[in-house]
Amino acid sequence: SPCRPNASLAAHPDFAAQPEHVRNFLLYRHCRAFPELRAPPAAKCAGPVFLLLAIKSSPANYERRDVVRRTWGRERLVQGAALRRLFLVGTAANPHEAAKVNRLLALEAREHGDILQWDFHDSFFNLTLKQVLFLEWLKAQCPNTSFLLNGDDDVFAHTDNMVTFLRDQDPERHLFVGHLIQGVGPIRAPWSKYFVPRLVTEAEQYPPYCGGGGFLLSRFTAQALQRAAPALDLLPIDDVFLGQCLQHQGLRPASHSGVHTAGLQAPSARLSSFDPCYYRELLLVHRFRPYEMLLMWDALNQPDLVCGHQTRVY
Ligand SMILES: *[C@@H]1O[C@H](CO)[C@@H](O)[C@H](O)[C@H]1NC(C)=O
Ligand SMILES: *[C@@H]1O[C@H](CO)[C@@H](O)[C@H](O)[C@H]1NC(C)=O
Ligand SMILES: *[C@@H]1O[C@H](CO)[C@@H](O)[C@H](O)[C@H]1NC(C)=O
Repeated sequence: SPCRPNASLAAHPDFAAQPEHVRNFLLYRHCRAFPELRAPPAAKCAGPVFLLLAIKSSPANYERRDVVRRTWGRERLVQGAALRRLFLVGTAANPHEAAKVNRLLALEAREHGDILQWDFHDSFFNLTLKQVLFLEWLKAQCPNTSFLLNGDDDVFAHTDNMVTFLRDQDPERHLFVGHLIQGVGPIRAPWSKYFVPRLVTEAEQYPPYCGGGGFLLSRFTAQALQRAAPALDLLPIDDVFLGQCLQHQGLRPASHSGVHTAGLQAPSARLSSFDPCYYRELLLVHRFRPYEMLLMWDALNQPDLVCGHQTRVY
């Protein structure tokens, strides 16, 4: 039976004045059980999986998934380590649109076996729910994965560099690295995408967290998050929620200088931020359009890529 909205909240004097997505979040905040609509075949987790790419994607983002599959998210062996790919998706809120994109996702699942979909509305404020459901799925279906990349479908992830970095790490020790954000608190301005009113949290400070565009974690830390999540109220900002889970477990996120989820400054006027030589050193950069991903991937994989003088893709 579907989870019922918490009607007692609607009686709060500040409730009616909240934006619709905030009201929706509050009414369904306690709902954590949603049916899986589509899951990958068991082969996804067979054999030792070194790095599982768990990519948050909205149902209609077909072009982004398509280019990720053909570029940095291609399932392959890197230095002998197995990479696997999974897109985490919900459903469209509009029933007509939902029926359409569900057919698309069924097709993609059949062709690529990389769709994990649940029956909840895929919205910005439901991303935490997506993370929590993914952690549960991981615990049940893929517990032996050594490392995870958790990120958005519009990042450029240098998965070869990630493997190089992760090979020196121990999956049985704490690891949670990305673009570290600390000393910030909820944004109380209603026009902001990140607006979180006091009705959602009274706290004025968020714990340290890594920007949700992309971060790496170990099996050890995934298990810690799995223990923490059920003990905490959902917060609508998913990366902050994972920071709260780490704090609950007495763990801290860390910064990796190769992760740029808040945009990227070109290192100098002479070196374009789209220079593939620059990207050779990086792990992840946020905000790539699909065609840019294809161009960058192609440039990085040119055997004759010569660095040291300026190279431009366009
Ligand atoms: C519904 O909201 C009230 C008021 O915030 C809260 O005390 C109660 O625990 C909530 N119920 C559920 C099922 O979460
Ligand atoms: C989250 O998903 C549930 C289930 O589909 C939905 O009822 C709720 O409105 C969604 N919340 C937001 C903030 O979109
Ligand atoms: C995970 O690894 C352990 C120990 O190596 C093994 O016993 C278990 O069967 C594996 N689980 C899965 C789901 O592969």
